[in-house]
Amino acid sequence: MRSLLPEPADPEATLEDVLAGYDYPRLPGGRWWLRANMVSSLDGAVTGPDGRSGSLSTPVDRQVFHHLRALADAVLVGAGTARDERYGPVKASDDVVAAREGRGQLPRATLVVVSRSLALDPSSSLFSGPDRVIVVTSRSASWQAVEQVGQVADVVRTGEEHVSLRETLGHLADRGLPRLLCEGGPSLLGDLVADRLVDELCWTIVPVLVGGSARRMAVGPDAEPLGFAASALALADDGTVLSRWRRS
Ligand SMILES: NC(=O)c1ccc[n+]([C@@H]2O[C@H](COP(=O)([O-])OP(=O)(O)OC[C@H]3O[C@@H](n4cnc5c(N)ncnc54)[C@H](OP(=O)(O)O)[C@@H]3O)[C@@H](O)[C@H]2O)c1
Repeated sequence: MRSLLPEPADPEATLEDVLAGYDYPRLPGGRWWLRANMVSSLDGAVTGPDGRSGSLSTPVDRQVFHHLRALADAVLVGAGTARDERYGPVKASDDVVAAREGRGQLPRATLVVVSRSLALDPSSSLFSGPDRVIVVTSRSASWQAVEQVGQVADVVRTGEEHVSLRETLGHLADRGLPRLLCEGGPSLLGDLVADRLVDELCWTIVPVLVGGSARRMAVGPDAEPLGFAASALALADDGTVLSRWRRS
């Protein structure tokens, strides 16, 4: 591993050294911090040939993924990713649970799924863990669907026709979950970009070109570009690039 940023560059850095820089900033009361974590190929694809992101990921990327979960109060994910990637409950080792409890956090990050349609199978692995999942939808969602999903999750309704993502983040902060991690996918991230809600991006670049028709990491309504500045950059021995970008 070589750490290039923050300076001075450290050619001897270990992955642990690099991960030590990923702590969330100190947040004043009521403020949240939304970090997105995405992996892409050199040509910007967010899925491999099998249509999932796992086939793009590298061992170093997986360690970052788990470390970011260990730090977050809540993990936000679009329903498409939860379905495609067959999301299950967030897990944490005893060490992670102890570190979280030392920081005053719940033992595991709370999973938050954003869904307009509520087309979520209550018997799926998504709802099989010990922690209650939060499902966010809009006020126009059908009562039938709200009732069905409400049997296995806490359903939060924000926005009239469309989910209000700003209200969603405020709601989570009010619930004591201000350190937020968005794991995608591209549609949810595109909406968060359009609403100017992304504070930080953790972007893993894997050294492959995949071509094909895979999407890029954020797609959605046209939006004013958001400016970011690099805060960390490291090159792993296998060519994986770990980067961290903060809203400038
Ligand atoms: N490379 C990476 O780091 C990475 C990360 C995550 C995902 N992925 C890949 O991305 C693909 C999935 O892409 P996707 O765009 O379908 O993902 P997505 O954003 O996870 O899911 C889209 C769905 O999420 C819900 N949703 C998203 N934004 C919403 C909003 N503002 N309001 C209400 N509901 C909202 C809707 O669910 P309903 O349909 O239920 O209404 C929508 O159809 C998968 O192939 C996955 O492997 C890659």
